[in-house]
Amino acid sequence: MTTYLPNEKSMNFDPQQFRQQFPLICQSNQTYLDSAATSQKPQQVIDSISEFYCTSNSNVHRAAHQLSAKATAQFELARSNVAKFIGAHTSKEIIFTKGTTEAINLIAQSYGRSNLTPQHNIVVSVSEHHANIVPWQMLCQQTGATLRVIELDTELQLNMQQAATLIDDNTKIVSIAHASNVTGIINPIEQLIAMAKEVGAISVIDGAQAIAHLPINVAQLDCDFYAFSGHKMYGPTGIGVLYGKEAILTAMPPWQGGGEMIKKVSFSGTTYNQLPFKFEPGTPNISGVLGLSSAIDFIKSFDRAALERYEQKLLKLAREQLLQIDGLSIVGDVSNKLSVISFVFDDEHPSDVATLLDQQNIAVRAGHHCAMPLMEYLNIPGTVRASFAPYNSVTDVNNFVTAVKKASSFF
Ligand code: ALA
Repeated sequence: MTTYLPNEKSMNFDPQQFRQQFPLICQSNQTYLDSAATSQKPQQVIDSISEFYCTSNSNVHRAAHQLSAKATAQFELARSNVAKFIGAHTSKEIIFTKGTTEAINLIAQSYGRSNLTPQHNIVVSVSEHHANIVPWQMLCQQTGATLRVIELDTELQLNMQQAATLIDDNTKIVSIAHASNVTGIINPIEQLIAMAKEVGAISVIDGAQAIAHLPINVAQLDCDFYAFSGHKMYGPTGIGVLYGKEAILTAMPPWQGGGEMIKKVSFSGTTYNQLPFKFEPGTPNISGVLGLSSAIDFIKSFDRAALERYEQKLLKLAREQLLQIDGLSIVGDVSNKLSVISFVFDDEHPSDVATLLDQQNIAVRAGHHCAMPLMEYLNIPGTVRASFAPYNSVTDVNNFVTAVKKASSFF
C-alpha cells in the first residue's frame, strides 16, 4: 500500500488525489524520482493535446476559416494564461520557444550580438546548466566579450562577495539559474537582479527547475528575462517560454527569419512583425502551447504552498535516511533548496549506483547532469540525483532509500 504523510489532507492537499491524475505514475512499477529531468503528465494535459487534434487542428494566425480562428483564439488565450501565471504585464512579453535552452540562445543571439563588444563581460555561475553556459561562450566568441564565473562557498551556495566584484560597469548580462538542477539550491536571484540593474546590465533567470516548485512573479522580481520549459512543470516536451520586458524585446532584432515574424517581405527590404510574433517564425508548437496552458491550469488548481510543503517533507525524509548510510555524502546539503537530492559514494561511480537502483525499479538520474563545469569544480565524476514531485509518496522515498542501502551493500 502506498503511504503518504499524515495530516496532508488538512493542509489543503491530498497527495493521493494528486497522484491519481498521473496515469504513468499509477500504472508503472517504477518509482519515478527523475522529475527534475522531466515531470510526468497529468491526464488533463494529455487530453488537452488530443482534444486539439480532434476538434481544432489548424494553423494559427493565417487562414481565413473558422477552424484557424478557433485554434488562434485558443493559442492566444494560452499566451495570456502564461502571462498571468508568471505575473507579466502583457502577453506581448511571452515568447514561445522550444524550451529554456532555445530561450537563452534567443537572448544571446538577438540581444547579445547587437549589444556586446570586446570591452563587455557576461556573468554566470559555475553551477549553471550547459544551456546557461554554452550560448554565452558562443556569444563571447562572436563578439569578443568575456565570460566571468561566480564560484561557490563551502556550502555550495553562490559566493556573493565574489559576485559583487565580478559584476562591474562593463557587465552587460548577468545570467543565473533560479535553482541548481544538480543540488536544487535556490540562488539569491533578487540580489543578483539588483546588482545587475545597478551597473546597467540585463538580468536573465534560468527558471527551468524553479518553475514547477516556486510561485514566480516576474514583475515583482523585476528581472529582464525569465526562461522556462513546459515539460518540467507537467506540460509537454518541446515547448518553453521566454519572458522579456516589453521595452527590451521591442528594441531587440529578430533572431530567426521566416514566415509569421514579418510584416512585409520584398527583395527591396523586409519589415518585421510586432511582439511577440517577431520572435516566433514558422508554425509554432500549437498543441504544445495548449498543453502548457493546461499544465498551468492544473498547477493553479492546487494550493502551491501546500505542494511545496509536501515536497519538502519528502526531501527531509529522504535526506535523514540517506545520511545514515556509510560512505554516502549529499552534494549541497543546505536548507534553501528544491526537492532535489544529489549524492555521491566515496568509491562508487554514480552510473553504477544508478544501474543498481534501476534494477530495483528506482528511476533516478546519474552523471554530470549537463553541468560539467560544476563537476570539474567539485572534482567529482558526477552525482546520483533523486528529484521529488508531489505525485511521489512516502513509500516511494522508503523504496528509494532501501534500494540505495542495498546498492551500497554491493560495494
Ligand atoms: N536539465 C535536465 C536535468 O537536469 C535535463 O535533468
